[in-house]
Amino acid sequence: MTTTKFHPESYTQALNTQSVSYESPSNIALIKYWGKHGVQIPKNPSISFTLNNCKTTTKLSFEKRTNFDEAYDLKVILDGKHKPGFEPKIHQFFGRIDEYLPFIKEYRFTIDTTNSFPHSSGIASSASGLSALALCLMEMEREMQPEMSLKHFNQKASFIARLGSGSGCRSLEGPLVVWGEHADIEGSSDVYGVQYPYEVHSVFDHYQDTILLVDKGEKPVSSTVGHNLMHNHAYSASRFDQAVENLAHLVPILKEGNLDEFVSLVESEALTLHAMMLTSKPYFILMKPNTLKIIDKIWEYRRDTSIPVCFTLDAGANVHVLYPKKDKEAVQEFIKNDLSIYCQDNRYIFDNVGNGAIKL
Ligand code: DP6
Repeated sequence: MTTTKFHPESYTQALNTQSVSYESPSNIALIKYWGKHGVQIPKNPSISFTLNNCKTTTKLSFEKRTNFDEAYDLKVILDGKHKPGFEPKIHQFFGRIDEYLPFIKEYRFTIDTTNSFPHSSGIASSASGLSALALCLMEMEREMQPEMSLKHFNQKASFIARLGSGSGCRSLEGPLVVWGEHADIEGSSDVYGVQYPYEVHSVFDHYQDTILLVDKGEKPVSSTVGHNLMHNHAYSASRFDQAVENLAHLVPILKEGNLDEFVSLVESEALTLHAMMLTSKPYFILMKPNTLKIIDKIWEYRRDTSIPVCFTLDAGANVHVLYPKKDKEAVQEFIKNDLSIYCQDNRYIFDNVGNGAIKL
């Protein structure tokens, strides 16, 4: 794995713009990243669907800095309000990336950001937020180095996003992105995400994801702490091997459109992620009683209708309900009638698979 290719070459052009904007989506992993080492290197490969509606829009404004009190000069604005509480995380991110984007020390930045999903939804904004910011910074670099290839731009933007949020490196492209080296996935890398390179059956086109907002509370365990608990975990070695095997299994499933196998692999991955949390030291439970009620209802509905609807979970209580586009009407009725009662304030978000970030 080489990271030296991401050290910048000398810049050939001056920077004449004052701002750049990107929108970047969230993503939902089918095979989960849980466990990392070194500087944001995953312990196993993962793959995700890129989402479409759940996204962050970021306008990055910059001017030559005059105040050198701190290593970096930055201000975070969320929904029009200054949020100093978010700034330490961005300072830490800048500390990780400045060897690759050294110009960030020379500017004063205003990061003006909004999320399409409510903050109190329990949907993490780090993947969409940090990928949007990484793209804005890369756009500055591209202006100073216009000969940069699109491939290099995409790889380096994902590489930079990864240093902010591991899963963020899977948000830039779509509909399916792999992160982490895997012998069966050509071009896969531990240091950036790549678009899934093989044939995908049309049943997965515009695949639907409805996010059921079960609990908007603060998570008791941050994802960084959770990842770290995989270090001395009794089952981690076999879990990492299993993720590698599951990704190998997913390749023919995606090609053939075998939804029965897709459903069982995706649900098993979600439950395994939570099983790792249940069996770490200290152990913790992120599911809520309503998470389990929803799972039960989904299983009952699938048994009764044979519609291949399934669930997946991220590191929280919310449930992502995945289903093919052709079943959209029926499943959305089911969600409204039978699942929304288990959501906080009956809230859910209809989303579907998308193609990644967009420059505005
Ligand atoms: C459970 O990407 O949030 O959603 O690298 O510490 O920022 P950091 O972690 P993060 O972890 C996401 C974990 C997950 C599974 C996944 O998205 O693959």
